[in-house]
Amino acid sequence: MAVQGKILFICDDKSYVIEIKEQLSRLGDYTLIAESTAQAGVISLEHHMCDLVIIRYAIPELDILAAISDLKKVDPDCVIIVLLEVEVEGQANQFAEIGVFETLGWPVKTDNLKFAVEKGVKLHALLAANRKIVLGLKENNKALEKQNTLLAKRIEDSTGNLSRLYEDLRSTYMRTIRVLAQAIEARDHYTHSHSETVARYAVAIANYLKLPAKDVEVIRQACELHDLGKIGIGDSILLKASALTPEEWEEIKKHPIIGAQILEPLTFLGGVVDLVRQHHEHYDGSGYPEGRKGEDILLGARIIHVADSYEAMRSARSYRKIPLMKEEAILEIKVNSGTQFDPKIVDAFLQVVDNL
Ligand SMILES: [Fe+2]
Ligand SMILES: [Fe+2]
Repeated sequence: MAVQGKILFICDDKSYVIEIKEQLSRLGDYTLIAESTAQAGVISLEHHMCDLVIIRYAIPELDILAAISDLKKVDPDCVIIVLLEVEVEGQANQFAEIGVFETLGWPVKTDNLKFAVEKGVKLHALLAANRKIVLGLKENNKALEKQNTLLAKRIEDSTGNLSRLYEDLRSTYMRTIRVLAQAIEARDHYTHSHSETVARYAVAIANYLKLPAKDVEVIRQACELHDLGKIGIGDSILLKASALTPEEWEEIKKHPIIGAQILEPLTFLGGVVDLVRQHHEHYDGSGYPEGRKGEDILLGARIIHVADSYEAMRSARSYRKIPLMKEEAILEIKVNSGTQFDPKIVDAFLQVVDNL
């Protein structure tokens, strides 16, 4: 297959144009477009998009640097050959530095012209193909970036929705459990609002001890749910007006464990479950269900125990119709400091009790 190409020849001398045209016609299927000035050449390149540009360097007033720059503006891959009247040593390198592909001396030897033109046309095709690939990659990258941004936005939205969903679910659970705890209290009209009042007392003690807000919140939630396990104890025991038998007492003592077992699957409750389990432990180890002692009982559970006991003494019960007077209840707490109750918690309680 004959070599093909469209060549722009910028040359002000017709005899040169005739000579080059004649040589090229023997070398392959080349189309030659001739222009006599650099400006006309640049306009012509815009219309014809040639594979190669040859410039005669001897054109009077020719600014070769400006011409190369203008041609490259039209076609950044433009391959340029400069035709010299006289070849001066080292000149080829100087032209290469300003972006010229090849220099040829006049008169041009056919072999030199053949080699330079074929190489130049191939180089132009390669550069153009490369530019197309780079452009394609850039476009793809842009599209990918756009998709990434969209995806990131969707993930962000979904995460936000999930968090809201989780929060909704969590508060729905909390409300359900709270209602359940209140329903259990309602079985015995004497214990109405017991958990709510215990929560108020315990929070006051915890705040006096300057506990972190999130720990105070865990204590408050544990107070609301601390007697949830009473759901498993029959009315005959729970509402009994007379003293309980030892067997009935054993039943009552199960409520912290039953409560913890009900709440355990609700992982979002975190520390609440252990506080529910430990709220009847005594500081000296005589409490239930595990007989824990001193610091082995969670601080929150020691606080709830004081608040719970004080509230129980200050309220009427099925087995004790008249509640203890405030002074009597406080005295009872003081008397049991160091045995049933943690003395540090009792001290804090005594500081806040007047404001309860
Ligand atoms: Fe309890
Ligand atoms: Fe209680």
